[in-house]
Order: sequence, then C-alpha cells, then structure tokens
Amino acid sequence: MIRAVFLAHTAAPSGAELATLRLLSALRAEGVVDASMLLTADGPLVDRLRTRAIPVTVCPGDFDSRSLTRAGSGPLRLLTGAVALIRLGTRLGTTVRAHGAHVLVAQSTKALLMGAVAARRAGIPLVWQVHDRVSAEYFGSPLAVALRLLGRLTAQGLIANSRSTLHTLSTTGRAAVVAYPGVEAGPDLARAPQRDSSQVRIVMVGRLTPWKGQDVLLRALARMRHRPAAVHLVGGTFFGEQDYRAELERTATELGLPVEFTGHADDPAPYFAQADIAVHCSVLAEPFGQVVVEAMGAGCAVVAAGAGGPTEIIRPELDGLLTPPGDPGALAAALDRLVADPVLRTRLGTAARDRARDFTITATARAVTGLLEQVTARKAVAPR
Ligand code: GLC
Repeated sequence: MIRAVFLAHTAAPSGAELATLRLLSALRAEGVVDASMLLTADGPLVDRLRTRAIPVTVCPGDFDSRSLTRAGSGPLRLLTGAVALIRLGTRLGTTVRAHGAHVLVAQSTKALLMGAVAARRAGIPLVWQVHDRVSAEYFGSPLAVALRLLGRLTAQGLIANSRSTLHTLSTTGRAAVVAYPGVEAGPDLARAPQRDSSQVRIVMVGRLTPWKGQDVLLRALARMRHRPAAVHLVGGTFFGEQDYRAELERTATELGLPVEFTGHADDPAPYFAQADIAVHCSVLAEPFGQVVVEAMGAGCAVVAAGAGGPTEIIRPELDGLLTPPGDPGALAAALDRLVADPVLRTRLGTAARDRARDFTITATARAVTGLLEQVTARKAVAPR
C-alpha cells in the first residue's frame, strides 16, 4: 500500500480543496493508497475530512510567498520569506516522515514551495497536483515561467486536472498524467421537466471572484430578449472577494435583474436540480470546471465558456453549448436560444447526464494511483 500525504495551504472549501477531499475519499475506498491530508491552516475543510474519516493533520504556519514569487521584493523581505519557508517546510517534513509517507502531493503553488522543503527533509518524492493553469494570463508571464521551472526542479511527478492545464507545464523527463476531477455518484435528485419559456430558471455556481465572470452573466442577462424568471448565483467569497460581491449586487439592482445571491453552498446539487439552465462563464481559460460536470450530471442545459477544461467536457450542440469567454453578447444569444426552446434544453440536458458519467471520482483515483506508483516505484497492492 502506498502511503501518500496531500499537502494544502488552505482549508477553505473552494474548488481545488473539494476536489482533493473527493479524491482522498476515493483513494481510501479503493484501498490501495493510504491517503491523508496535511494542512497549514485550519478551516471548514478539516471537519469535512473528519466526517469522511480521512486522517488530517493541521500544522499551522505561513510564509510570505509573494516575497519569493514577485519580482522587486527587497533583499530583507526575500530573506525573511525564505527563512520562514524553510522553517515551515522543515516542520512539515518532520511530520511527513513521522507518518512514514512514501510520497508527498502538493495541492497548490504555495504547497509546492513548502512541499519541496518538506519532501527533501523526509527523503521522499514530491508530486505537484496542479489545479491552476500555469499561464501568463493567470499568473503573469515572469511568475508563470518561474513556477514552471520550480515544478521541474522540485517535483518528480505532475498531475494535471485537464489536458489544457497539462499543456501549461514543463513535463519533459517527468511522470505526468491528466486526472480529471471526477464527481461522486450521489442520489439522482428528481428534476422537473424543462420549464416553459416564461418560467426558466438559471443557475451559476462558483466562487464569486472576477475571473469566474459572474459580471459577464449579469451583463448578458441585461441584453437578453427573453428574461428568465429567476437567476441564482451560488457561491461564497473566500479570499478577500467581498468587494466583488458588493459590485455584483449593485449591478444586479441597477439593471433590475431577478438575481438572488445564495452565498456558499456546501452542496450545490439542489440548485442544479431546480434550474433549467446552468451557466459557466469564466473569463480566463478554466483549468477544469467541476461545476460544469455537476450541472450536466443534474441534467441542466449547460452553457460554458469555451476555453480550457470545459472544451474537454462539453461536445457543443450535443451535450451543451460553448460561448467565447468574456463575451456577454454571445452568452446572451446562447441563453436566448435556450430559453426560447424547451425541446433543445431537454435534448442537451439528457445528453449531458450521460456525458457526466464519463467523469467519475473512481477514474480520477485510478489515474492518480498510477502516477503515484510510477513515482514511488511501488505497487499499489490492496492489503489482504
Ligand atoms: C481549481 C480550478 C478548477 C478546477 C478545480 C479542481 O479550482 O480553478 O477549474 O475544477 O481546481 O481541480
């Protein structure tokens, strides 16, 4: 059995952390990887891990990652940042060694930095599980180059959440795999037939943050010929994004849009089950987009932004629609088309349900297991 410790710097229940939670459950259920979680911050994820009986250790600590990753930090700030990183990494390394871990899996770029020190200290390989596209549009060009290089220098294995994410990494001479973050097979929530054009309900699920593009949806709604009866924006603000929410609320009021802000939902499934149409409209290429699969699994007619992960999930006109990212006019046109045509919505929603079954968390766990076997040169044999 491979003992793997997954390292994260935040315990907020945002997309990457929820994907990790599901993955750890599935790895443990498969019985070939003894997966546990190591966090450097406390938060809601801790209870959710415990509820699922996933071993979790919180080893509180932080360092100024910006001092190391942004150009122009003064030498003193750089030195203080580096010292804090080495201290924390060393502490984590001791914990990881005490666990008898065979491999450490970093869940973010910050975790990669800490993990590099920790894995070295524990004398085990480091794997970088990449949830973000390491691209110039996301990180800025110098930082993207630096992170790619850092990954090359420190990680023996790479796990990407889509082909699109994998393309942003430097993989030569590295074990690398695409492991789509699958969804868990939950109870099929009953859904009403697609509503009449005058009654349509739209939902968008995602953290309220500018790059997820909730403002694009609001601007699209304002241009629509057939206004929907209700729009739910489901999502929390975790990383200092309250101003963005306030701005969205102002825009919705000014434009007189029927938008309700629900805040964060631990389980968005009931919102999808009650919606006719689900929208995804990130303005940057989405690394994967778990909400797209969740919406499809719930049988919604889905419109997503056609860049990154969603282009690997949706087959346009067959099981969903894609529109160019950041284009409210194109989104409004797609939504108008859907609202006006319940038959199209039904057809897309039905095909979407089937397509979502291709993205299971068991498949994710198997892909990750294969990579961990490669990196540790161990066979993940189930205990007798
Ligand atoms: C991050 C990405 C998102 C992906 C998730 C799980 O939150 O932004 O696209 O679905 O990680 O890998």
